Amino acid sequence: MENQAHNPAEYPATGALAPAAAGTLLIENTLVYGEGEPTSVLVKDGVIAEIAAEITAADRDSVDRAIDAQGGVLLPGFVDMHVHLREPGREDTETIASGSAAAAKGGFTAVFTMANTQPVMDQPVIAESVWFKGQNIGLCDVHPVGSVTKGLGGKELTEFGMMARSEAKVRMFSDDGKCVDDPLVMRRALEYAKGMDVLIAQHAEDHRLTQGATAHEGENAARLGLRGWPRVAEESIVVRDAIMARDYGNRVHICHASTEGTVELLRWAKGQGIPITAEVTPHHLTLTDERLATYDAVNKVNPPLRESRDTEALKQALLDGIIDVVATDHAPHGSEDKCCEFENAKPGMLGLETSLAIIVDTFIATGLADWRFVARVMSEKPAEITRLPGHGRPIAAGEPANLTIVDPGRAWTAHGAEFASKADNTPFEGQEFSAKVTHTILRGKITCENGEVPVNA
Ligand code: DOR
Ligand code: ZN
Repeated sequence: MENQAHNPAEYPATGALAPAAAGTLLIENTLVYGEGEPTSVLVKDGVIAEIAAEITAADRDSVDRAIDAQGGVLLPGFVDMHVHLREPGREDTETIASGSAAAAKGGFTAVFTMANTQPVMDQPVIAESVWFKGQNIGLCDVHPVGSVTKGLGGKELTEFGMMARSEAKVRMFSDDGKCVDDPLVMRRALEYAKGMDVLIAQHAEDHRLTQGATAHEGENAARLGLRGWPRVAEESIVVRDAIMARDYGNRVHICHASTEGTVELLRWAKGQGIPITAEVTPHHLTLTDERLATYDAVNKVNPPLRESRDTEALKQALLDGIIDVVATDHAPHGSEDKCCEFENAKPGMLGLETSLAIIVDTFIATGLADWRFVARVMSEKPAEITRLPGHGRPIAAGEPANLTIVDPGRAWTAHGAEFASKADNTPFEGQEFSAKVTHTILRGKITCENGEVPVNA
């Protein structure tokens, strides 16, 4: 089950996985990548065994479970490089269990949960506890992200090697929520990471330029009396880290790109052959700072919602491959931290249960892209960037059955109170979408069925 696109010897394997679902699952009447004629996919013991217009009678007789996809689109299970599941420390807002359920409902088979927990994920024992909890729950592979610096303090590097070699097999490190802004610390992190081929993911924000900032620096913030977070605070770090990746030879990943200028810098860096990758969130693709007029803190996020020229540039960059992936930055918060003055509210938005619908309405329903694009930006590329075996693989015989079925014509309305997530801070409350994840399958096990997590999953 190793990811053939990479040399397995060069990166740590996945930590011991919970066993695949034993038995046979038949998915009928599905359009693989949304293409061709309705097809059947037979899964045996967690692995795709056969893809055919008709499954033979003998095989059909031995089927334990069958799903009628009703013409739904079959895609590789989604991979989210950036979520916050809040465990340990803020289990009142999300747990690995509730976050895994939200992930399964959103079509995700693997997520990477950030290190800004309490305590911070800066030691193997914490990462291992998160990994094993995720495997025991069994709804989604929950990969812990290690912090780059101890306690997110920005000064002293953590033991990347110990975390990478632990049972959690940590493969990504980030101080997300905070920027590794000391250039010497960042240089050392990149050099240390290079030896193990683990990924450094940067939250690009020069904190000296954003002190007290709560909104994008622009006309709207000025009119509303909110202190501004300028584009340069992001872009100056992006360009610095691109140059470091060039000169010290390690790859670097930019979290939640939010500005037109970041897109230009990524275009330049990729053109130079610099090993840089980037993600964009569904909210930065579609929402702008015009939302702030209500002072509703559900619209507060870091980096902040920007302007339409930024959203347009981000969309085009995702289509062009300048931005590699969609990542949600799923950031649950309790009402005490959101239903308060804008200035005092915590930044962050839910993402797992609306991501696919937003991407479909933005790119597929508008004719800008096809389902192969969705497979690429929500599954294949994030698995490739994180060197994650078994996910983001082609839908083909012999591959692990990590799969998502989408009904492209199922209209629904987002209501945070109905989400599997413990929190309800979605900026898409009341919004109507045209597509929905109907099924998610993790190594042959159904983790979402008809849009819900099965009771016995
Ligand atoms: O909006 C955000 N929320 N941005 C971050 O970088 C951190 C996150 C959180 O942890 O809530
Ligand atoms: Zn984040």
